[in-house]
Amino acid sequence: MMNIFELREEIAAEKLDEKSVPDNYLSLFTKWYKQAAEAKIYEPGAFALATADKIGNPSCRMLLLKGFDKRGFIFFTNYDGRKATHLAENNHAAMVFYWGEIERQVRIEGIVEKISAEESDSYFETRPVGSRLGAWASPQSQPINSREWLEKAHNDFFEKFNNKAIPRPENWGGYLLSPTLVEFWQGRPNRLHDRIQYSLDGLDWKIRRLAP
Ligand SMILES: Cc1cc2nc3c(=O)[nH]c(=O)nc-3n(C[C@H](O)[C@H](O)[C@H](O)COP(=O)(O)O)c2cc1C
Repeated sequence: MMNIFELREEIAAEKLDEKSVPDNYLSLFTKWYKQAAEAKIYEPGAFALATADKIGNPSCRMLLLKGFDKRGFIFFTNYDGRKATHLAENNHAAMVFYWGEIERQVRIEGIVEKISAEESDSYFETRPVGSRLGAWASPQSQPINSREWLEKAHNDFFEKFNNKAIPRPENWGGYLLSPTLVEFWQGRPNRLHDRIQYSLDGLDWKIRRLAP
């Protein structure tokens, strides 16, 4: 049987070397994400997303990553909430993953845009019925009168759809963050941590070591 504790120790002891890291951030992110999942980290896809409004006031909240590929990182949310308002005014955002048990952090900065309606539909269909109804019921980020109001709204939509197909609400869907900067941080003894930064330079990714 796999010993999770030893596996975590082994992963945490890995070093990052600018001479041997993959030349694209995606290979390294894929490897680290898999290792975080193998190390049984609770919700390895949980990340903080920082946005800012048009005059630069920041706001940060946790989200769950739902996919990543060569385009970037995908998450789903309400298109009318506070983060969506920020992203409509200012499409620059930053995300950070923290996998404490294996002493790792990944920081990502980039540009955010909505994914296509078709891609949002495909993901919405995979969600449990209760969550799909939740997307209809919740006016995300708006003040509401009570918990009862929310539960009633959920129940009203349950009755409205009455076991029929539940389409995706137009104001709910995915965003893609296309990175321009990705930094991998590996904890090391004496606070001499490894930090490897990939930054987009024209069409190429530049790799640098940063001081911890
Ligand atoms: C671990 C965790 C994961 C979350 N995942 C999501 C998510 O994927 N999408 C989402 O809209 N909100 C998610 N939330 C709720 C957000 O943190 C936030 O409350 C909500 O998106 C409203 O943010 P806004 O008012 O800045 O738009 C999550 C919260 C936590 C603690």
